[in-house]
Amino acid sequence: MTHLFSVQGKVAIVTGGSSGIGAMMAKGLLEGGAKVYITARKAERLMKKAEELSQYGECIAIPGDMSTLAGIEAFVKAVSDKEDYIDILINNAGANWIAPIDGFPEKGWDKVMDINVKSMFFMTQKCLPLLSKGTSEDPARVILISSIHGLTNPGMPAYAYSASKAACAHLTRHLATDLAGRNINVNGIAPGFFPSNMTKDITENEQMQKMAISQIPRARMGQPDDIAGTALYLCSRAGAWTCGHIIVLDGGMTAKY
Ligand SMILES: NC(=O)c1ccc[n+]([C@@H]2O[C@H](COP(=O)([O-])OP(=O)(O)OC[C@H]3O[C@@H](n4cnc5c(N)ncnc54)[C@H](OP(=O)(O)O)[C@@H]3O)[C@@H](O)[C@H]2O)c1
Repeated sequence: MTHLFSVQGKVAIVTGGSSGIGAMMAKGLLEGGAKVYITARKAERLMKKAEELSQYGECIAIPGDMSTLAGIEAFVKAVSDKEDYIDILINNAGANWIAPIDGFPEKGWDKVMDINVKSMFFMTQKCLPLLSKGTSEDPARVILISSIHGLTNPGMPAYAYSASKAACAHLTRHLATDLAGRNINVNGIAPGFFPSNMTKDITENEQMQKMAISQIPRARMGQPDDIAGTALYLCSRAGAWTCGHIIVLDGGMTAKY
């Protein structure tokens, strides 16, 4: 299939693919014809999601903790035992910690930084041998999932999260310019408000959800096709010359500031 937005026959990894945005992108890639490896810590939920997604294509679950180097190495080895190369790496797994500034704990800071920043760097580093089949016409792709909270004040005391997402955006640019010569295209997506486990405190509270949506010019939350469509663009021939950018996907929210 030579369709401009096709990912037919490609092999992809989506970290944090058991839930929310990661599961939405994994589904989009599977529907586009890719084989998709997903990973997360909670094995039961991950296996269940892989089983559910298998109706769209080949989805393989490999559990692991991506916030540690040992977890990343074990996961990459497990993929390498099955694949000679991958075409797409989506560094999506992430976490948040909310606490007032006076009592914000070191534990929360480290937890967020380890999965939102450190993991994205080392996962990319350890996957470099697998990302070696890109060509100048069709480079391998790496996507880092940032957030609009890395661009503006989140409006909640999520200090480590906002700092981590700004770091993720800059890491995207740094990796992109360094890896472009190896035919690896690195880009980022900065999502706005999507329903997920991370945002369930808002989506499960009618009042809070209404309030959050009232801030969005397009007057709705993000939907699975919104994030899947952006990921497909970046992973297909259509995105082959997009390099080192962070696509803001927020229904117009940050355009107001
Ligand atoms: N939802 C939004 O509105 C929004 C907006 C902007 C950016 N984002 C970003 O989108 C990404 C996905 O978040 P989400 O909203 O979809 O949240 P989510 O539903 O909570 O999903 C997070 C995923 O990451 C996995 N994960 C967390 N820590 C991990 C670890 N140490 N090792 C491996 N996997 C881990 C989780 O599985 P386990 O818990 O089983 O490990 C889960 O699969 C994050 O980077 C988040 O910051 C979300």
